[in-house]
Amino acid sequence: MKPFRIGLIGCGRISDIYIKNCQRFDDLEIVACASLDIAESKTKAEQYDIPKYCLPEDIFADPTIDCVLNLTIPAAHASISLQALEAGKHVYSEKPFVTELADGEKILQLAKQKGLLVGNAPDTFLGGRWQTVKRLLNEDVIGKPTGVSAFVGTHGVERHNPNPDFYYLEGGGPLLDLGPYYLTAMIFFMGPISRVAGLSRKTFEQRTIENGPRNGEKIPVEIDTHSLSMIEFTSGAIGSMTMSFDIWDSETPRFEIYGEKGTICIADPDPVHGANIFQGDVLYRTQETSRWTHQPRPTGRDHWQIAENRHSYNEDSRGLGLLDLAYAAQAKRSPRASGEMAHHVYEVMESLSTAADTGQYQTIHSSCQIPEMLATDFPHNEKIT
Ligand SMILES: NC(=O)c1ccc[n+]([C@@H]2O[C@H](COP(=O)([O-])OP(=O)(O)OC[C@H]3O[C@@H](n4cnc5c(N)ncnc54)[C@H](O)[C@@H]3O)[C@@H](O)[C@H]2O)c1
Repeated sequence: MKPFRIGLIGCGRISDIYIKNCQRFDDLEIVACASLDIAESKTKAEQYDIPKYCLPEDIFADPTIDCVLNLTIPAAHASISLQALEAGKHVYSEKPFVTELADGEKILQLAKQKGLLVGNAPDTFLGGRWQTVKRLLNEDVIGKPTGVSAFVGTHGVERHNPNPDFYYLEGGGPLLDLGPYYLTAMIFFMGPISRVAGLSRKTFEQRTIENGPRNGEKIPVEIDTHSLSMIEFTSGAIGSMTMSFDIWDSETPRFEIYGEKGTICIADPDPVHGANIFQGDVLYRTQETSRWTHQPRPTGRDHWQIAENRHSYNEDSRGLGLLDLAYAAQAKRSPRASGEMAHHVYEVMESLSTAADTGQYQTIHSSCQIPEMLATDFPHNEKIT
């Protein structure tokens, strides 16, 4: 396969890991990078040997670019994705998919009309930990799933992010920022969502930046920062989700699935990243066992890192969904981290906000295919020579 040629738009914090991973995957090549700040794009290009830095419009105009990697801030996602599609390019974007539901519909419609693919983060569900959970479910270890619970309680991002402004403005907040990881995982395990209810609140009118050159600066909070959700799946299973920037700490497990015969738990000892990472332990116990079992089975003192039956991608593999999209474009199939699923996730999040504002249950109108697991020899099974 000739490398899939990528034009990167958005050269901020998250772009480093994407660039590193694209350089690690032979079939992806970042050929140009752009952002609102040409000096920032130049620095990134020099740092990573990207052949060209330019303006976003130069990326759209370049006929040799196959796909736009959209790593801009949430408020710019839709406009960049629509311009990329208009220019005849596939697009893979960071989450959230959009910040207005109607934009999501436009993106999917335009892609269909042009015969192009839309992919979207998160792709963490393709990581070893989440693939392990899916395998356990497929092996019927806990029986039919009946419930799910997701929880992230942090005190926001202003301690480690020097420019946390967008997290507290329209389009930000814990639901839109963290919800995509957990809702995508839920859909991967339990299928599409049919109905939601929710409550939310804003605890602080301002937040204080606690690091970097703006240390001590107060920034406004426009959005709710503590969100509680009730979720009903088309399958009949039910779930709950708490996403908060107002909690100092908690021992609540990050993610659990309840089945007719047992429970799967991602407890997660990592207080910073929660469960929005690719790797880590999976625990389960069934009606036959009185103790938690680790998956993959540990083979010694160390744990999952040396276990034999673990799935691949047990490190930050952001961009894996883009690699899958590159193969999907060749094979004329849908990408696993699809725009269709991201749109469904976005509708769920928007409906949760509406439910919190109105006190009414909200019916979800969109749906999506449940993505297939990655083959254990991915990407070798996908390479076309
Ligand atoms: N930082 C993280 O830890 C993290 C983790 C996961 C996902 N994300 C997601 O990645 C995205 C980017 O986050 P970030 O932290 O890298 O943000 P950032 O503010 O560090 O960088 C944003 C980049 O987008 C560019 N940009 C903004 N508007 C633009 C426009 N209209 N046209 C062209 N370029 C534009 C900026 O110039 C900058 O290069 C967000 O959607 C965020 O939710 C971030």
